[in-house]
Amino acid sequence: MTMRSSSRSTSRSPSRSSLALALLLAGGTAPQRLSAQETTPAPDFRTEVLPILEARCFECHQAPRADARGRLRKPKGGLRLDGRDWLLHGGDGGAVLLPGDPDGSPLLARTLLDADDPDLMPERGERLSDAQTAILARWIAAGAPFGDWTGAARDAEPPAASSAPFDAARPASPRALRLAALAGELSPIAPDAMKRLVDAGAHADDLLGDRRLFAVGFPGHQDQIDDRALRSLEGAREHLAELDLARTAVGDAALPGLARLPRLVRLDLSATRVSGAGLRALATAPALRVLVLVGTRLDGAAIDALAALPQLETVYLWRSGLEEAQLATLRAAAPRLTVVGAPALPEPESEAPRANPRRRR
Ligand code: HEC
Repeated sequence: MTMRSSSRSTSRSPSRSSLALALLLAGGTAPQRLSAQETTPAPDFRTEVLPILEARCFECHQAPRADARGRLRKPKGGLRLDGRDWLLHGGDGGAVLLPGDPDGSPLLARTLLDADDPDLMPERGERLSDAQTAILARWIAAGAPFGDWTGAARDAEPPAASSAPFDAARPASPRALRLAALAGELSPIAPDAMKRLVDAGAHADDLLGDRRLFAVGFPGHQDQIDDRALRSLEGAREHLAELDLARTAVGDAALPGLARLPRLVRLDLSATRVSGAGLRALATAPALRVLVLVGTRLDGAAIDALAALPQLETVYLWRSGLEEAQLATLRAAAPRLTVVGAPALPEPESEAPRANPRRRR
């Protein structure tokens, strides 16, 4: 007899007998009599339970990521199983794991449904073996102990699903895909790091809708943001993808620290007092692709410094103190770099307009 044939129910919950069976197969007793105090040792999470989840559930229930075809895949049913806190939080339908209550835990119950039940998990492929469901049942009955495993961390307040800026059903934009790739295995920002940002007056835009990567600026009180104030960003350093420091009081002293932000892709230093030579400090920034230097007072040292930024793709240098001839030198020194030298005008593709530059600066 299999568990499938033992239940004729088409409801979401498996019959009690199927659960009891799972427990009996495991050498246990009826579910309601099992507890953490039972003599049978609980299955070890890391070596017995996690491998089942990894092999059969993670494919659809883990952190948002780009798949091989370039689509952003979000966890199905809003449920992530790749971290202790996520497992205990549950999915769109609420809790899925009730420690001590295998009967009431959808995490197990969904794997025991009839073969033709649309709610059966895993949604695809073979159903879990009796041995696997028995391990899950015994583990939950024993109080779902995780040992020292925590997996991916979870922030206290995840955003509402509707706040996600893009939809898993549509192909994600190239920018979203690059951001998702940049985020990698990153966990959501820690609540205390987020609080420090907000306390410092930062406005933080959640770029992927999952609290992992942010665009941060200080609208309204840029003048209070100096090199020292940037220390409030330290706790969030892993999570900063875009930083708007335009019109702030930061200068060259801030640049080495900014260069150590591992995921900083876009940096706006417009109308700050950074110098051409100071920009050299950005050479070690691992992810920097866009740099905005509009309205700065750069000198010729900026040319070599900018040409040496390895990842840089676009630099905005309108009214940066650099002459048109210096911009041409930069273009020649760094052909892969898009040098934008005029406001709102895309850089001309042909040489013609440059040969006759407008004499307004
Ligand atoms: C091929 C994709 C896929 C796999 C693999 C998969 N699931 Fe799911 N799961 C889904 C989809 C889609 C939903 C949302 C629709 C639904 O509720 O049926 C879902 C929803 C769920 C829910 C309900 C979440 C909620 O709050 O509504 C649970 C519990 C669940 N899955 C458990 C599991 C377990 C346990 C495994 C591994 C044994 C697993 N799933 C493997 C696709 C999958």
